[in-house]
Amino acid sequence: MTSDLELLASGNEADVYALNDCRVLRRHRWMDDVSGEAELMAYVGSVGYPVPEVFAVHGGDMEMERLHGPTMAQGLISGEVSVAEGVTMLTGLLRRLHALPPLPGGTGRILHLDLHPENVVVTERGPVVIDWVNARDGEPDLDVALSALIMAMVATDDGYEWAAPAGEFVDAFLAAAPGDPFRRLDEAMAVRRRQLRLDDDTALEPAVRRMRGVR
Ligand SMILES: Nc1ncnc2c1ncn2[C@@H]1O[C@H](COP(=O)(O)OP(=O)(O)O)[C@@H](O)[C@H]1O
Ligand SMILES: [Mg+2]
Repeated sequence: MTSDLELLASGNEADVYALNDCRVLRRHRWMDDVSGEAELMAYVGSVGYPVPEVFAVHGGDMEMERLHGPTMAQGLISGEVSVAEGVTMLTGLLRRLHALPPLPGGTGRILHLDLHPENVVVTERGPVVIDWVNARDGEPDLDVALSALIMAMVATDDGYEWAAPAGEFVDAFLAAAPGDPFRRLDEAMAVRRRQLRLDDDTALEPAVRRMRGVR
């Protein structure tokens, strides 16, 4: 039962409850098995990447280390994190992730495929990456394209509280991003369409135009 637990945060796909000062319970709304995600988090954590420690998995529930600090998105809105600092953090996190040794038996590099400011918590020990549901092996430029595309979607949607800083962020990110954020952009669009369960590219097109510098 989660009714008597304190709801800390709700994302698009999961609700996160405080269990105590050191642990949270993340309840995914539609995934009924997050054991693969937990294994991948344990692996990247074991090779030195900043992720919360996972303590237990029950179906779609994950009990993990509670992180203290704002998400990078919250930090950008409050001004606690400058656009330049955020871009340095995000490009650094992508570079470090893609430099990790591949998964045992894996082909290609480990990709997060949803690495954007709402999935980074800025803690005292530095930025920590959450929400590894989409992670898998692949080609780093795809991950970089997705980060840029997701931020460009925020920048072109006035409904987002941080649309203005996100626009500045996109420009700085594209200038500093590792690899080539455009080379696998078509594939990134297809991945995002599936992630958001969209019927077509209509919702993605303004973001792609924004990335290509058309305003
Ligand atoms: N380990 C954690 N410690 C503290 N807060 C967390 C933790 N994991 C997630 N959160 C909070 O819950 C929110 C939603 O979690 P997330 O895994 O990103 O789910 P979603 O798929 O819904 O985006 C995050 O943006 C963050 O604010
Ligand atoms: Mg998230």
